[in-house]
Amino acid sequence: MESLEVVRPELVDFKGVWMTHYFTDNWENVQNFQARPDDILIATYPKAGTTWVSYILDLLYFGQTSPERQTSMPIYLRVPFLEIAIPTIPTGKEVADELSTSPRLIKTHFPVQFVPKSFWEQNCRMIYVARNAKDNMVSYFHFDRMNSVQPVPGDWNNYFQRFLEGKNLYGSWYDHVGGWWEKTKTCSKIHYMFYEDMVEDTGREIDKLCQFLGLSAEAEEKKRVAHQAQFDSMKKNSMANYSTLPVLDFKISPFMRKGKVGDWKNHFTVAQNEEFDEDYKKKMKDPTLQFRTEI
Ligand code: PPS
Repeated sequence: MESLEVVRPELVDFKGVWMTHYFTDNWENVQNFQARPDDILIATYPKAGTTWVSYILDLLYFGQTSPERQTSMPIYLRVPFLEIAIPTIPTGKEVADELSTSPRLIKTHFPVQFVPKSFWEQNCRMIYVARNAKDNMVSYFHFDRMNSVQPVPGDWNNYFQRFLEGKNLYGSWYDHVGGWWEKTKTCSKIHYMFYEDMVEDTGREIDKLCQFLGLSAEAEEKKRVAHQAQFDSMKKNSMANYSTLPVLDFKISPFMRKGKVGDWKNHFTVAQNEEFDEDYKKKMKDPTLQFRTEI
C-alpha cells in the first residue's frame, strides 16, 4: 500500500491523560458507542501484547468457522481499534459498528476511566493485558520511531525520562496498569493477564482465557491456536503483522520486533536501571500487582 502523508501529532493533556488528537477527535461518537452484551473488549497500554491476544481470540472464536478471515482480513479489521480516527481510513468506531461477527472483538488502549459506559452497562467481558514497564517502554520507543501518527519519540535518553514522567500517548504506564488492576477488585468481568506469562506458557494462558470466556475448545484446537500465534508465525503473516497499514515504516523498525521478555537489558544503562527501580518503588505501591522483568 502506498504511504500516507500525515503530520506527527503533539501530546495534549486530555481530561488528565496525555493523548493526541488522532485518538480524541472522535471522542463523542466513541463515548456513545453501543456495546452489546457479548462484545469482548481487549484493553492494554500500547505495546503490551494487544495484537497477540487479539489474534488468539480471533482464532479461538472464528478460526474454524470462518477460516477465510485468516487469509483475507488484517487483524486490525477483525479486531477494530475503537478510538482511532486517522485520515483516509475508516474510524475504529465505524469498523466496529460494521462488524458482523458474534461476539465482536474490540480493541482499546483507553485507561479504565475512558471506557465508554455501555461496556459497563452491558456487563461485557474485558481482557486486560499488561507488560512489565521496562520492556513496554522499549517496545513503545521503537513503535514511536516507526509510526508516523505517533508523537516524535526523540532519542532514547529523552524517551526514558518522558516515560518515567508518564508523558506518552495514553499517559502514564503506572496509572494505566494500576487503574485497570484496581477495577478488577470490584468487577469480575475483567480478566487481567500478563505478557510475561504468555511468553512463559502460551498454552496455559489460552486455557485461562477459555475458562474466563466459557469456551470449550478441544485440546488439539488450543494447541493449534498457540502454534499459529507464535511470534515467528505472526511475524511472517501479513494479516497479523501490520505490514498492510500505510502509516508504519518497517524500514525503521518492524511491528513484530523481538517479542521477548528482557530486551530492556539491551537498552537501559546501569544508571538508568537504578533510577528506574528507585522511581518504580515510589509509584507502584500496591503489593498485589507484581510484574516480572525477566522469566
Ligand atoms: S499495539 O500497537 O499497542 O497494538 O502493539 P501490541 O500488539 O500491544 O504490542 C506489540 C508487541 O507485542 C509483541 N508481540 C508478540 N510477542 C510475542 N509473541 C507474539 N506472538 C507476539 N505478537 C506481538 C511485538 O513483537 C511487540 O513487542 P516488541 O518487544 O516490540 O517486539
